[in-house]
Amino acid sequence: MSTRQQAGAVVVHGGAGASREHEDGCVLAARRALAQLEANGDALDAAIAAVTALEDDGRFNAGSGSVLCLDGATVEMDASIMDTRGRLGAVACLQDVKNPVLLARAIADTPHWMLAGEGAQRFARAIGLPASPPLSERQRANHRKLLGRMAGSVPVMPGIDNSLFARTWNYKTPLELPQGSACDTVGAVVRGADGHFAVACSTGGSAPSLLGRVGDSPIVGCGFYAGPDGAVAATGIGEHIVRHLLARTVYGWIADGMPLAQALQRGVDLFGPDIDVGLIAVSRSEAASCSNRDMPQARMMQR
Ligand code: GLY
Repeated sequence: MSTRQQAGAVVVHGGAGASREHEDGCVLAARRALAQLEANGDALDAAIAAVTALEDDGRFNAGSGSVLCLDGATVEMDASIMDTRGRLGAVACLQDVKNPVLLARAIADTPHWMLAGEGAQRFARAIGLPASPPLSERQRANHRKLLGRMAGSVPVMPGIDNSLFARTWNYKTPLELPQGSACDTVGAVVRGADGHFAVACSTGGSAPSLLGRVGDSPIVGCGFYAGPDGAVAATGIGEHIVRHLLARTVYGWIADGMPLAQALQRGVDLFGPDIDVGLIAVSRSEAASCSNRDMPQARMMQR
């Protein structure tokens, strides 16, 4: 761990596929993180404060704004946290918990690093985490839009024939295609003034997706990574991100001394133009973001 004293820094994103119009939500989340950093100096608490705000916002694909699974009823969420104090926690395929990032934090204090599915939900209930609010009209409207696109011939997930979802369908209810794909994540990276780094991520996963699908966001080294030289969070299509171990790969370039903007651009350039991808990171001396989309984000420094 570095003993160098740096000003604290926060970078937050609202997802590579999210609208820039919602950037005010990222600004609010970054402010919450900075306030938390002022309060106790803990980079992880600050990253979690930011992601909790984004999960509660309702406009991002995480927490209360999560996309619906293809059955139009189920929401499955993933989240993760990691810092340079050795805390590592993740949750996958989680249903009906308002703030998955708080569960990921709590899992870091168990004998395990990840819990999934029903066991994760039971643990959330046992520690008193609130259930998700009822589905919003916004979530339902996004789902109707997706079904319309699924019925067409243009792949909703780049490179994947839409009919493959129908052929591999694994829900209890039948697929009913009537008559924008989403694959966002929210995330925050924080450098504390004490030289510690932290990252937190949360997502409603991808749409369309089969039941039980897990993306990059809860997988260490893929959607998130923190080490003595910085912290990195990724957003975009998990099926592509995991193939590059993206967060750990970019972290390696930062640790080798590559300027932050160059390392993030090199990470984004690993993907073709039809793949949504975005990265945020803090290093010992820099804080930056990069995306091949107009990604909503916010960056703030401690004075
Ligand atoms: N990056 C979010 C996901 O693929 O689940």
